[in-house]
Parts: sequence; C-alpha cells; structure tokens
Amino acid sequence: MWGLLLLIHLIHSTELHALRCPTENAAPLQFHLVRQCQRAAADEALSLESTATLADCMKLARQQRGLALNYAPGDQERRRNRFAQHSRREKDARRRLSVFEQPGEFFNCHILQCPQNTSFAGMVNDSRFDYYSLYGRPTALHNISCVPQVGLFVFYTQPSSYLNATLTCTNASEFSGSLAHVASEERTYALSHWLLEYNRQSKPGIFLAYIGLLYNSSTSLQALDFRNGQQESLLCFLYRAWHVGHPRLGGIQANASCVALTPSGTWQTLGCEHPLPFICEIHRPPNSHLNKQLDTGANAVDMC
Ligand SMILES: *[C@@H]1O[C@H](CO)[C@@H](O)[C@H](O)[C@H]1NC(C)=O
Ligand SMILES: *[C@@H]1O[C@H](CO)[C@@H](O)[C@H](O)[C@H]1NC(C)=O
Ligand SMILES: *[C@@H]1O[C@H](CO)[C@@H](O)[C@H](O)[C@H]1NC(C)=O
Ligand SMILES: *[C@@H]1O[C@H](CO)[C@@H](O)[C@H](O)[C@H]1NC(C)=O
Ligand SMILES: *[C@@H]1O[C@H](CO)[C@@H](O)[C@H](O)[C@H]1NC(C)=O
Ligand SMILES: *[C@@H]1O[C@H](CO)[C@@H](O)[C@H](O)[C@H]1NC(C)=O
Ligand SMILES: *[C@@H]1O[C@H](CO)[C@@H](O)[C@H](O)[C@H]1NC(C)=O
Repeated sequence: MWGLLLLIHLIHSTELHALRCPTENAAPLQFHLVRQCQRAAADEALSLESTATLADCMKLARQQRGLALNYAPGDQERRRNRFAQHSRREKDARRRLSVFEQPGEFFNCHILQCPQNTSFAGMVNDSRFDYYSLYGRPTALHNISCVPQVGLFVFYTQPSSYLNATLTCTNASEFSGSLAHVASEERTYALSHWLLEYNRQSKPGIFLAYIGLLYNSSTSLQALDFRNGQQESLLCFLYRAWHVGHPRLGGIQANASCVALTPSGTWQTLGCEHPLPFICEIHRPPNSHLNKQLDTGANAVDMC
C-alpha cells in the first residue's frame, strides 16, 4: 500500500521534473544598486514604508512585486539631504504638502512598480537615498515597455518566423531575454493591451504577435505540452486564453505549433514558419560582479 503510494508519488514528481515547472524556492530576486544619492519619483509607488534595514525593504518589495525601490539607510552622515534648498519659500511650500507628497521626508523605503529607463527622467537628487532596480542599469534600447509589477518587454514590429524571433530575443546584445511568458491573466492582459494601443496609432496594425509558447512533437511529452521560452510546460500553469477553436494541433501543425497573442487577449496556434511580429521579455540579471557597477548616465551625481 505505502509502496504503491510512494510509486505514484515518484511518477508524479519525475513528471513534474520533466515539465520543468518553476520551483517555489528558487533564489530570491536580487535588487541591484543603480544610483547613489538619488531617489526615483514615487508618485506611482506601490507603497511608502519605513523599514529598519535594506533587507527588510527588499523583502517587502518582493512581496509587493515591486520592480525597483528607493532606500535611505539613515546613517549619521546621510541624515540630511545636502541637495535640499533651505530657503524660506521652499519651507513654506513644503508645509502645504501632505505627508505622501513628500515621501523623502517621511518614509525610508519606497516600493516602485517600474524601474527608470536610460533617460532617468524621474530622478531627484537626495543624498539620503539610493535607488535599486531588479534589472540593474537600464539598457540603451528604445521600445522597452514596462508592465507594472510584471516586468520589461520589447516589441518587435518586423515580422519574423518563430525560430528567428526566439533567436532575436535570446541573442540580443542589449539584453538577455526570451520570447515573453504569457501564462497569467496579468501578462496576457497587459501585453494584448499594448497591441491595442499600438493599433490605435499605427496602420497596418498588429493582429498576431509571437509569444513564448511552442508545441514540438519531438520534445513535448504529451498533447498540449506547450513550452515557454524557459522550456517550462504550460501544464505547470493554471491560466489559459485560447481563442475559440484553438489550440489547433492537426494538419501542418501536427509536428510543431507556435502560439501568437491577439489584441483581444487570446492565444492562437499557427505554423511556426509564418512571419509575425513578436514580443521579447527582458530577464533580470543574476547577482554577479558585472552589475555591481553604478549607472553614470543622464542626471547622475558624482558624489554627495
Ligand atoms: C523613458 O521614459 C519616459 C517616460 O517615463 C519616456 O518619455 C521616454 O521616451 C523614455 N525614454 C526611452 C529612451 O525609452
Ligand atoms: C519602436 O516602435 C515603433 C512603434 O512603436 C516602431 O515604429 C519602431 O520601428 C520600433 N523601433 C525598433 C528599434 O524596434
Ligand atoms: C530569419 O533570419 C535570417 C537571417 O537574419 C533571414 O535571412 C531570414 O529571412 C529570416 N526569416 C524569417 C522568416 O524572418
Ligand atoms: C548572435 O549574435 C551574434 C552577434 O550579435 C552573431 O554573430 C551570431 O550569428 C548570432 N547567433 C545566432 C544563432 O543568431
Ligand atoms: C523541435 O525539436 C527538434 C529537436 O530538438 C528541433 O530540431 C526542431 O527544430 C524543433 N522544431 C521547432 C519548430 O522548434
Ligand atoms: C511530422 O513528422 C514526421 C516524421 O518526422 C513526418 O513524416 C511528417 O510528414 C510530419 N508531418 C507534417 C505535417 O509535417
Ligand atoms: C543632480 O546634481 C548634479 C550635480 O551634482 C546635476 O548634474 C544633476 O543634473 C542633478 N540631477 C537631478 C536629477 O537633479
């Protein structure tokens, strides 16, 4: 009896292993120091908090799925903002603002839904604070879109086969990435919304764009075992957004079937040779010496 249960358990776990489901206890996401003596605008912060340590602030940011944060360590030499104007007018102006309109004065941990791009347009010089991002220094690539609390994506409007699209995402020199993962409501919704917005402004519009889901009869274990850009099986995830009549798995799609996102937030299968626009997802850099470098681009301070 117990032997049978053990056997069932073993089969179950080897199957999960073969599906390459993401594990719960993967290494925690790393926030990288990007700018010292500055903080990013916190108008759209997920939350403003006061925490005892940087580690506590990062932990909170992970819980709230923040992509960046400002933190003021509060050391003796960083108690005052050396960049602050101490004029009478400034003080009067500040008195009229609410606590939440002056996050730098009242909270030492600001959890942000998106990181800054290379223009760093939202930075404020404030010697009490440092700015951290899950993505490290921003890449000098245009057309990067942030989906709040989800991640950074690049939309390629030039049509390409699925294989070429995969290579473009994984072999880009500006970022490390893969075709976008879509197996959640927020991801499918946000990325299809981008297509809708694009179509509002551009003719011809984009009605199908490749995302990271591929069925390949020589590597998939069973029907509907679509794999994302990390080779994780769709069977690991609960969310589905198949268009009516999809997935289609017969005919020319019997051996390989690739998935495209529609502006209405559904997924359609089609032949992988079909040239289509596509969406790459930018990966978060691991904690290595390479991203210990601070950003010294636009608006940076040399010292504070
Ligand atoms: C950076 O973001 C701002 C808005 O936050 C946008 O106006 C600007 O075009 C972006 N710059 C780049 C290089 O993506
Ligand atoms: C960026 O997107 C615009 C439209 O949003 C497009 O016209 C342009 O070609 C894109 N640039 C790159 C480098 O993909
Ligand atoms: C794939 O990329 C190669 C080399 O860049 C190019 O010659 C070919 O036309 C591309 N194919 C498609 C379908 O985009
Ligand atoms: C990857 O990019 C490099 C240079 O950017 C290029 O030489 C190489 O051919 C590319 N590899 C593939 C498989 O596309
Ligand atoms: C399916 O997998 C095989 C073996 O790994 C590979 O040669 C083939 O290119 C894949 N097909 C597609 C459409 O990715
Ligand atoms: C699928 O692959 C098999 C074996 O490689 C081949 O005989 C068959 O023609 C392929 N079917 C299609 C629709 O490409
Ligand atoms: C911060 O101060 C430096 C000079 O120390 C200045 O060059 C930079 O533009 C300032 N940045 C912002 C965002 O005000």
